[in-house]
Amino acid sequence: MKGLEIFIDRIICGDCLEVMQHIPDNTVHLAITSPPYNLGINYDVHNDVLAYEQYLDWMNKVWLETKRVLVPGGRFALNIAPTSIKAFRPIHHDFANQLREMGMIMRTEIIWYKQTMRRRTAWGSWKSPANPHIVPSWEYVLVFCKDSWALDRNGAETDITSDEFKRFSDGFWYIPPESQRRGHPTPFPEELIYRLIKFYTFKGNVVLDMFGGTGTVAVVAYKTGRRYIHVDISTKYCQIAEQRLETARLLQEFPLPVSRTGKKIKVSELFSGETQRPRRKRRAKQPAVARLLEKKESYKPSEAKDA
Ligand SMILES: C[S@@+](CC[C@H](N)C(=O)[O-])C[C@H]1O[C@@H](n2cnc3c(N)ncnc32)[C@H](O)[C@@H]1O
Repeated sequence: MKGLEIFIDRIICGDCLEVMQHIPDNTVHLAITSPPYNLGINYDVHNDVLAYEQYLDWMNKVWLETKRVLVPGGRFALNIAPTSIKAFRPIHHDFANQLREMGMIMRTEIIWYKQTMRRRTAWGSWKSPANPHIVPSWEYVLVFCKDSWALDRNGAETDITSDEFKRFSDGFWYIPPESQRRGHPTPFPEELIYRLIKFYTFKGNVVLDMFGGTGTVAVVAYKTGRRYIHVDISTKYCQIAEQRLETARLLQEFPLPVSRTGKKIKVSELFSGETQRPRRKRRAKQPAVARLLEKKESYKPSEAKDA
């Protein structure tokens, strides 16, 4: 995979088309992304209100680059939400048509059920068939593959358990939206990405998110022993992604201590000193993770296991 090394396990701040054109052909095993939905969302840098045709043209260019960088048999998992009720557009149909027209094989459509109905206000005509609204409480993950249905294993390890395989192959995924937003309007929940990565890749495979935001795909790829390429145009979101990865590396190297009851101690407890520690361990003034985080400057991420 000559030329790929400079992109691997990197958070790259830049325009996705400018960056992707330098990624070599046939090198990525899975692309997962959630593009801006063109709904006027307040992202840090991006203008999320383009004319619809202009928006589709832009996305088409991104899909062409995605297809080029995927290995044969490589997958593309595209998360897209139904658009608003009043300005409804079948954006998922338009994306599916674009990708199929360029020769991508459409494998399936996963329904990510978010159950966000508690917050609903838009009933349309309440209790009347005159003009009632269906409120979108779900999103789609459209899954495509390039050239072939099968992904070559090339000796790589499979790590999905039989229980996970059974659960994930049922295409109706109930996963609540991410509650920890970290200053981003639309982050992925880690569980969604975990399922896609475990189901569609082998260990050591390369996973790309070209609209990477706060780095959920990169973080889960790292935690599951895959390699990642993260691209986002916002420096602020890229910095958040870097911080999340640093925390993930530290926690992998120094897992959180377990309390006497067997419960994992929360990071917040480590710093507040609120945790009841077992007597024989009282001599240590601070737990390992807290000491390490204090000495962060001297810690080199490259020394971390699997990094
Ligand atoms: C729907 S969000 C992705 C959120 C991400 N899935 C997460 O978990 O945080 C879309 C992202 O696309 C980024 N973006 C917009 N225009 C871009 C461009 N031209 N190139 C790269 N990223 C861009 C935005 O900054 C935003 O973070």
